[in-house]
Amino acid sequence: MNILLLGGGGREHALAWKLAQSPSLKTLYAAPGNPGIAQHATLVDLDAADHRAVVDFCIRHSIGLVVIGPEAPLVDGLADNLRIMGVPVFGPNKKPAQLEGSKGFTKDLCKRANIPTAAYVRVTSKDGAIAALDDFALPVVIKADGLAAGKGVIIAETRDEALAALDSMFSGAFGAAGEEVVLEEFMTGEEASFFALTDGSAILPFGSAQDHKRVGDGDTGPNTGGMGAYSPARVLTPALEQQAIDTIIRPTVDTLAAEGMPYSGVLYAGLMLTDAGPRLIEYNARFGDPECQVLMTRFDGDLVALLLAVAQGKLADQGPVTLADRTALTVVMAASGYPGTPEKGGSIAGIEAAEQTGAKVFHAGTADKGGTLVANGGRVLNVTATGDSVGAAQAAAYAAVDAIDFPTGFCRRDIGWREVEREAR
Ligand code: AMP
Ligand code: GLY
Repeated sequence: MNILLLGGGGREHALAWKLAQSPSLKTLYAAPGNPGIAQHATLVDLDAADHRAVVDFCIRHSIGLVVIGPEAPLVDGLADNLRIMGVPVFGPNKKPAQLEGSKGFTKDLCKRANIPTAAYVRVTSKDGAIAALDDFALPVVIKADGLAAGKGVIIAETRDEALAALDSMFSGAFGAAGEEVVLEEFMTGEEASFFALTDGSAILPFGSAQDHKRVGDGDTGPNTGGMGAYSPARVLTPALEQQAIDTIIRPTVDTLAAEGMPYSGVLYAGLMLTDAGPRLIEYNARFGDPECQVLMTRFDGDLVALLLAVAQGKLADQGPVTLADRTALTVVMAASGYPGTPEKGGSIAGIEAAEQTGAKVFHAGTADKGGTLVANGGRVLNVTATGDSVGAAQAAAYAAVDAIDFPTGFCRRDIGWREVEREAR
């Protein structure tokens, strides 16, 4: 079968690597791809925002499955346009993708389906928001409703900080994403991410992970897209995972289906493990980046068959997903300046040496400049290794990081620290 993979980051390199291992794959095409993805796929010049061009490409190249990596094309309705033309696609339609595209949509769904989450109110004006602020204790969480690349969330410790956050959102700091705002109760606990495949009816757990969103060691500094992750996140015990499925994932899937907008794809639930059990922080409508890299490293199966079963509504026929018991851990090497303006063009060497240690290096933001590999984005490489414990996986990943020569890059040195500390106890 021919497959088209959309996206060009580390998540998509990990997906391409696994898709390429499937015996049923004939040709893998990718757009825009990157030099790492090019090791497994034919890169094509296609703009995911041009739905007609994507559909035409699929018909001309007999594409049997489109895998949509990032959220923007999903929220934009690309999956709908492919499905209308009979092209199987992994990823939800526009309406259910609102789980990621609109924080207010998700909060309202939680209310209708009685899903545990933080108390909230949706507001569309600064005055309305200020009036509603009195109903919340401090700290209060303030979120731009729409897609804001992970940056539209402010945790205000004081009323003045809250007022400043509202001021910036309603004066357009996040563009259209901030025209509507959600105020939320602050929840305390440890965070874990949980992934589940669904075709709108069947649900298949796809493992857990823990991301590291802050740029600096010890979880300091500004938020990023994620500086590293490991899987599994053992804080999400089998009992808590089952509770999350029963109280969060199952009611989400069933309510969306009952309301005529079945969700097909991967549900990425950001969970807060509170004293009262798992509560939903947010949903994403795609695999996490870099969480996908550690999930794919652990995944032991035919990814083409699995994603096709989701796309065709035949997930109930699939056995459970098999994930290696070993921990996978990935360290993001970023370009200096990230998450602000990253320095482009810095040379990268030593990937082969890093992989000789047994690690796998996924390309996130690289480019080939006349035969030299250079940085071409904020997050540049995802250095991924496995081990019998988080500590062992961490040591292996940093041994590989140290084999890479990327003078304009940097990384956190403590990915997995919470679990490493627990293991040391
Ligand atoms: P989100 O983009 O919704 O995942 O939010 C980004 C980060 O903000 C989360 O990973 C949490 O660390 C934090 N956060 C969001 N909502 C809440 C909440 N209601 N209570 C506590 N922390 C939150
Ligand atoms: N690593 C966070 C995300 O993919 O949204």
